[in-house]
Amino acid sequence: QVAAASGHTVVLVDQSDEILKKSTKGIEESLKRVTKKKFADKPEAGAEFIEKTLKNLSTSTDAVAVVHSTDLVIEAIVENQEIKNELFKRLDKFAPEHTIFASNTSSLQITQLANSTTRQDRFGGLHFFNPVPMMKLVEVIKTPMTSQKTFESLMDFSKAVGKSPVSCKDTPGFIVNRLLVPYMMEAVRLFERGDASKEDIDVAMKLGAGYPMGPFELLDYVGLDTSKYIIDGWHSLEPNNPLFAPSPLLNKLVQEKKLGKKTGEGFYKYK
Ligand code: 3HC
Repeated sequence: QVAAASGHTVVLVDQSDEILKKSTKGIEESLKRVTKKKFADKPEAGAEFIEKTLKNLSTSTDAVAVVHSTDLVIEAIVENQEIKNELFKRLDKFAPEHTIFASNTSSLQITQLANSTTRQDRFGGLHFFNPVPMMKLVEVIKTPMTSQKTFESLMDFSKAVGKSPVSCKDTPGFIVNRLLVPYMMEAVRLFERGDASKEDIDVAMKLGAGYPMGPFELLDYVGLDTSKYIIDGWHSLEPNNPLFAPSPLLNKLVQEKKLGKKTGEGFYKYK
């Protein structure tokens, strides 16, 4: 959405037409929200902006078929090293020489993903934040193999889509998630111990620390499955780090398919 809105030609790829239809509808809704604010007094200019943005956007279920005409691939699939490696390995065979590959992974090592391709120098991390149209940050990750030219291209692209990039080494969680995920897990542990209700913890962090959402609201917003993938991955890397310990309650909710806002229920229920 943000790439299309800033004049880039974008092909959105996903597994089925049904998912792509849902994604396109989500983008249209989000564009309406952005436009309402940006073009408050000029509804005609707003309508033109939406039309122009949607013109820049097409969809496909065949990544291999569309990758030959890309300058940049941004992967944002399930948070699983093997599945990501397999995708990158396949795309590497069909993408042009100059194409840069980037992953939006929340927690996996960019270096390991890059090693599934033959373009380690043209590979980096581009980590966006939910909701992307509103959150101004992008973390740009440079591995020891990422070339300076690639790094600069990723920084330039981030600025071109209207974001403020920061850079970080290829370390677990980069900057934001390394701080945010242990904080959210500590909130779950506080609740699991019965020290406070989830509602009070959320109110406390909003009114006492000025956060826009409490940790349970944010977990539901990010997705409990994604949060679990992140913590499980770090736990396997550092089993003795108490900040990375899995949570029985989080695991139970994920097992019950209560994944947060997207499924209608997580820590809270949504209509
Ligand atoms: N698309 C477009 N616009 C959106 C939007 C979307 N998806 N979501 C919210 N907005 C806009 C609304 O239209 C509204 O615009 P307005 O000011 O003109 O009315 C504005 O954002 C504020 O929205 P709301 O009034 O509905 O609600 P809030 O004031 O609470 O803001 C929020 C919503 C921006 C999501 C805010 O609650 C927030 O900043 N929350 C924290 C988000 C956060 O921490 N994100 C990081 C998660 S971690 C992550 O993503 C990393 C990953 O790897 C796990």
